[in-house]
Amino acid sequence: MTTKQQKIGTGFGAHSTADDVLAGIDLTGTTALITGGYSGIGLETTRALAHAGAQVVVPARRPSLAATVLRGIPGAETHALDLADLESIRSFSERFLETGRTLDLLINNAGVMAWPETRVGPDGWEAHFALNHLGHFALTHRLRPALSPNGSRVVTVASSGHFLSEIRWDDLHFRTGYDRWLAYAQSKTANALFALHLDSLGPDNGIRSFAVHPGSILTPLQRHIPREDWHAQGWTTEDGSPAAGFKTPQQGAATTVWAATSPLLDNARRGGAYCQDCDLAEPATSDDMLVGGTKPWATNPAAAARLWELSSELTGLNTF
Ligand SMILES: NC(=O)c1ccc[n+]([C@@H]2O[C@H](COP(=O)([O-])OP(=O)(O)OC[C@H]3O[C@@H](n4cnc5c(N)ncnc54)[C@H](OP(=O)(O)O)[C@@H]3O)[C@@H](O)[C@H]2O)c1
Repeated sequence: MTTKQQKIGTGFGAHSTADDVLAGIDLTGTTALITGGYSGIGLETTRALAHAGAQVVVPARRPSLAATVLRGIPGAETHALDLADLESIRSFSERFLETGRTLDLLINNAGVMAWPETRVGPDGWEAHFALNHLGHFALTHRLRPALSPNGSRVVTVASSGHFLSEIRWDDLHFRTGYDRWLAYAQSKTANALFALHLDSLGPDNGIRSFAVHPGSILTPLQRHIPREDWHAQGWTTEDGSPAAGFKTPQQGAATTVWAATSPLLDNARRGGAYCQDCDLAEPATSDDMLVGGTKPWATNPAAAARLWELSSELTGLNTF
């Protein structure tokens, strides 16, 4: 089934915060797992979900830093996980499954952007594709037994960065012509396609899946771009404050928690949708990433199925 990318009118928008979206929602008894939930948008997502009563599991590449950051957020806990390492994903997942807990919300949020060319794993996978997409693909498959057939949601944080590249079918790992922005873009198209295909498997397993563009937010994500280049990128004003149209991290977390909890998304016709500003995104009418929307290659079910198969071959996993 193809999801219609059309606004539904939710009462929330670009300025809503995660706490606005969760006002009046009690998540007591709910378990959420959020990758990268100790920095930037992910940290605000953790805060908001925990504040609403959820138990929040935060697997972390740097667990001692995560423990420090999360101290003082009741209900948040951290464990070691490196999404660039399939073995780390396996061992984290096995430990989680041993606890017998159900995962109501899986939020695939961690990500890296604009890295210099970096290779990971024995086969020298390109790092953005490996970590942002294949790592979350593997994690979701490994955690499959903990997802409930009674409506677990999987939210994958994509980006309007997807505007710059569809999937490079002939050269997924940039064996030639590496470009840091195209590498990020491909991985974000992959995030959107992953969400789309996962949801299409839903009628049998009861899992709803969504992709989210959080908006543009200054966070440690931009750590590989020198500060002096931020203004040229259009991210900051002359005095260094966030440019017009940028969101706060609390606003950036709003669409994730909306996609994770909104009853409006129980409707199967909306499954697999790409969301932004706490609503379904519409097809992009320009190349302006601040305005956002979806490019056709990020909502194409045939591409989503093809990527799923390729990802399954690369990771050796297909538990759905
Ligand atoms: N900020 C924006 O404007 C924007 C716009 C569109 C989409 N997004 C998306 O939003 C998501 C969150 O980004 P953010 O802005 O909040 O960035 P951030 O503050 O840098 O957070 C990213 C998180 O991912 C974690 N991470 C990185 N590599 C990892 C690995 N190998 N294993 C496990 N965790 C790893 C980071 O941990 P360490 O700190 O330990 O590396 C960090 O906690 C990303 O998927 C990003 O693509 C952001």
